[in-house]
Amino acid sequence: MDIAVIGSNMVDLITYIDKMPKKGETREAPNFEMGCGGKGANQAVAAAKMGASVTMLTKVGDDIFADNTIKNLKKYEINTEFVQKVPGVASGAAPIFVDANSENRILIIKGANQYISPEDIDQAAEKLKKCRLLVLQLEIPLPTIYHAIEFGNRHHIPIIFNPAPATKELDFKYISMCDFVVPNEIELEMITGMPVETDKETRNAAFVLLQKGVKNVIVTLGRRGVLWVTSNDIRRFDAYQVKAVDTTGAGDAFIGCFAHSFVRNGNVAQAIQRAQAFAALSVTRKGTQISYPDVKELSAFLEG
Ligand code: RIB
Ligand code: NA
Repeated sequence: MDIAVIGSNMVDLITYIDKMPKKGETREAPNFEMGCGGKGANQAVAAAKMGASVTMLTKVGDDIFADNTIKNLKKYEINTEFVQKVPGVASGAAPIFVDANSENRILIIKGANQYISPEDIDQAAEKLKKCRLLVLQLEIPLPTIYHAIEFGNRHHIPIIFNPAPATKELDFKYISMCDFVVPNEIELEMITGMPVETDKETRNAAFVLLQKGVKNVIVTLGRRGVLWVTSNDIRRFDAYQVKAVDTTGAGDAFIGCFAHSFVRNGNVAQAIQRAQAFAALSVTRKGTQISYPDVKELSAFLEG
């Protein structure tokens, strides 16, 4: 097994809007799409689509969404033996609003994801400890994430930690144990409490994480590219310029593809470039996972 993702799954309920309704107003929206999402599942699917063998530990609820989510993961050949159903609980759901400028606003209701516990990791330990990379985000309980980080360290498994959605409550004792912390600007600002308006400020904020022990900070800057900061080097990668239709899940696309490339050959710069291309293709189409390219499309894009 290449990659284990311990994280969330959600049902994305994406409404494409031209204008938000005012209080008390009913408005017609041009479009609606339902699809599989959740930061954990998105990252797992992105890695799997690139050819990684992926195991996902997550929980679904006891509703019409549950089986569809499991079926969807299986479709991408993701190992679902550690996907459990929680009786009497709703599956995670995410009402998302995408405006005419393709910017999104996301609400998440964690539902069954709230029930992913440290014990679930212990129960899956035999299998999980064989993975070569562990990928974590913030849509499941913090104690579970911290337990996963300790688990990864104990078994010498490198960890990619995506601090999304952003929170101020992170315990740096654990974050410092991660090999890669991959925030966007807002998340970097939130976890460090530092401004990130300019490249210089972004670098300084990243240095705070490095000083605490993180080995690599990879800041995703949307159409402004990516900044890779280590204690002795800073590299900037320009973004591919594409016409954005829906940026939902682009950060997850980046992380999943990065994880796969990194596990394959350990080349961080190359993994960043591939992941940028993968994420760029995803924003040209509506939806989250459904908008992710396959290996063939990615290769064609990179060669063209
Ligand atoms: O990062 C995008 C994801 O955030 C969506 O798929 C939604 O489910 C929320 O988890
Ligand atoms: Na998309």
